[in-house]
Amino acid sequence: MRLQGKVALITGAGSNIGRAMARLFAREGAAVVVGDTDEVGGGETVRLIEAAGGRACSVAGDVSTTQGLRQSIDGAVETYGRLDMFLSNANSGASGTIAQFDRAGAEKLLIVNLMALMEGAHYCLPHMQQAGGGAIVATSSVQALVGVPGHPAYGAAKAGILGAVRSMAVELWPYKVRVNAVCPGGTAGKTWTVIDELGEEYLPEFEARFGRDMRHLPLPVPTDPMAIAQAALFLASDEASYITGQHLSVDAGLGMLRYDVFHGPEPLDTPQAKSQRHSELQAEFEAWLAAKKEER
Ligand SMILES: NC(=O)c1ccc[n+]([C@@H]2O[C@H](COP(=O)([O-])OP(=O)(O)OC[C@H]3O[C@@H](n4cnc5c(N)ncnc54)[C@H](O)[C@@H]3O)[C@@H](O)[C@H]2O)c1
Repeated sequence: MRLQGKVALITGAGSNIGRAMARLFAREGAAVVVGDTDEVGGGETVRLIEAAGGRACSVAGDVSTTQGLRQSIDGAVETYGRLDMFLSNANSGASGTIAQFDRAGAEKLLIVNLMALMEGAHYCLPHMQQAGGGAIVATSSVQALVGVPGHPAYGAAKAGILGAVRSMAVELWPYKVRVNAVCPGGTAGKTWTVIDELGEEYLPEFEARFGRDMRHLPLPVPTDPMAIAQAALFLASDEASYITGQHLSVDAGLGMLRYDVFHGPEPLDTPQAKSQRHSELQAEFEAWLAAKKEER
């Protein structure tokens, strides 16, 4: 186990990527504090972790406020006695296009993504120093690296995360606190579904049957939240002990593509063909899952 004896606070862990991170970190031995304003989602993440024999609790701290951040961080230390890892992953808000700019939505994006990372790091630091060091991993996005129309405030928040990560990395290295980011592309994935509904022993068969289509080819495909969690796990673990101030893209190559190539018919499929293929794959997967359940 790579995180035995460690404690992680993961914000936005009541859903999708944050939940995948929480489950994987718990599987690697960490006690996980699931931070999410969605108490139902947070509770479900805790239930899944406990059902798998892991340790977790949830805290409904709103990371857009100082009080919510402190509640989450102090809650982690009160419950588990220390704090080693802070994963700033929550996201909310929306700005719309520049033509239809929504100031309140944009402010929310910047506060939940960027301010929460910096202020959260500020309040985590004394606890990480006490623990002899720590790791901070922020969830940025492919949109920090390429321009996507209609999302200027999201792009700004996610690019801002990378600036904050680099500055904090230099500042906090003397305290043995490393700071890195993951940059997901779009997500969709079935790894946890297979584990939950069939069991881990079915993963090789799932990979052999769907891995190429659902994971690798053709670019770009949605990324399995498990793959993003694995990148975060690496960055948070001692295996990355000399890595700080970096971002790791987990996007099936999406960020490498030029916009015109991505949206043109050659050499990739058209968006319509891709969406048709995704629907077919979804149906194939559902049929496979049902057959395997029957077979067990
Ligand atoms: N899903 C994607 O395709 C994708 C792509 C690139 C980057 N990302 C980034 O990955 C992260 C997770 O994405 P996701 O798809 O799992 O998102 P999600 O919307 O499924 O989950 C976000 C979680 O954050 C929680 N949250 C929102 N505001 C909060 C607040 N103020 N305090 C505490 N919790 C709050 C929500 O309740 C939700 O459970 C986000 O930072 C997102 O921007 C996602």
